[in-house]
Amino acid sequence: MPRITYVNGRYLRHPDASVHVEDRGYQFADGVYEVCEVKQGFVVDMTRHLDRLDRSLRELSISWPMHRKALELVIREVVRRNGVRNGLVYLQVTRGVAPRDFLFPQAVAPALVITARKADPAQATKRAEAGIKVITVPENRWDRVDIKTVGLLPNVLAKQAAKAAGAQEAWFVDVDGTVKEGGSSNAWIVTRDGYLVTRPAEHGILRGITRTTLFEVAASLGLTVEERGFTVAEAKAAREAFISSATTIAMPVVEIDGAPVANGHPGSVVLSLRAAFFDIAEKCQA
Ligand code: PDD
Repeated sequence: MPRITYVNGRYLRHPDASVHVEDRGYQFADGVYEVCEVKQGFVVDMTRHLDRLDRSLRELSISWPMHRKALELVIREVVRRNGVRNGLVYLQVTRGVAPRDFLFPQAVAPALVITARKADPAQATKRAEAGIKVITVPENRWDRVDIKTVGLLPNVLAKQAAKAAGAQEAWFVDVDGTVKEGGSSNAWIVTRDGYLVTRPAEHGILRGITRTTLFEVAASLGLTVEERGFTVAEAKAAREAFISSATTIAMPVVEIDGAPVANGHPGSVVLSLRAAFFDIAEKCQA
């Protein structure tokens, strides 16, 4: 089955799918995106992802590329045409194509790209059984990371530094020593008393959709979540640490800057959140 990508109204063979050189996403990172998990043929938490897309678009005064209901159909169609049962769907909306000028172009339609790709669930399970390593890096991003823009260069550099150090994620750390979030995930710990702790999402991090759904999963398991900052030292001394995102769900962190978290093995709380996630999350048939 050939890979198919949606570009501005057309379903194209993936190798032929391209955007114009003067797309403002390409020239100014003037665009936003969403990544949804696809599991067992369902698009997970699509409503929340599209609510967040709406917020990102409004914050940047970019209009919707099409009616929301139509966008839902196209997302599901791209998943279907690619035969993705497990994997992810990526959608990107930019301000559109216009001669390069910093000011917003007048009367230009936003550009929309949607791709879908398969992922092997067995690989994810294996990664969760082993846990991942993180490094910490100083926060060096702008202060509107609550908007899910395609301007991700600091995240790229941080994650590349993590790879060079033999780790899989980098945590941005604020000047006050508290952990903000990962390069492409939110950060959590489980305290010695069994409380889940994650930073409040009002400012300075992306309000992760997986994070939001995990609040409900935690409640269903009788777990309490505290929204507050935590330091790197607190994370190293925690009972468990983990990250959350649409691509990792809840993924154990077993090492921070080379120091083991607890006994250096995935904890039971994160694994129970992971196991219960799909039961609680919204499932939209592709
Ligand atoms: N990233 N924080 C950042 C900086 C992220 O890029 C992401 C997601 C998250 C978690 O958000 P969610 O739970 O909605 O996926 C937090 C996606 C997966 C990516 O860029 O590939």
